[in-house]
Amino acid sequence: MVALLAVMLGVVVVSGAAQALHPPSNVETIDPLTLHLDGEFVESNLGTAQEPDGSVTVRLIAQQFGFVPNCVTVPEGTLVRFRVTSPDVIHGLILADTNVNTMVVPGFIAEVRTRFAKPGDYTMPCHEFCGVGHQGMWARVTVVPKDQFSAPPLARTRCVPR
Ligand code: CUA
Repeated sequence: MVALLAVMLGVVVVSGAAQALHPPSNVETIDPLTLHLDGEFVESNLGTAQEPDGSVTVRLIAQQFGFVPNCVTVPEGTLVRFRVTSPDVIHGLILADTNVNTMVVPGFIAEVRTRFAKPGDYTMPCHEFCGVGHQGMWARVTVVPKDQFSAPPLARTRCVPR
């Protein structure tokens, strides 16, 4: 029994230390206490932004119990980079029929990249239990045809939830 426990402990220590077990996606850290004060995730920088190369970046904060902003518009057939972080507890997000599925861990920036094949509304629920309001935590991603998407450079766009 003791040997078995030693083996299991060994597996945990070796996989953690040697294989660098970290939160999924890129390992980028951020101070969760100062998200709203300055840096990439201040409110004026949230939403969809068009990059010089034509791709778009969507920045969101996942917090108890909602996403800020809770509706974003993106163009179809374009590289979309979601960058999300949390000021409080672990949240998650998933978009059905896409490869978007990540945990959002306080202290880290989760980044997922995707391309939407067709226009439409995608419901994006939080999929990590984060407290009493978890079941009401979701956002909408509205995918519009490329020619209908216009975000002036440096502006951040959002849409109105329906
Ligand atoms: Cu946030 Cu569940």
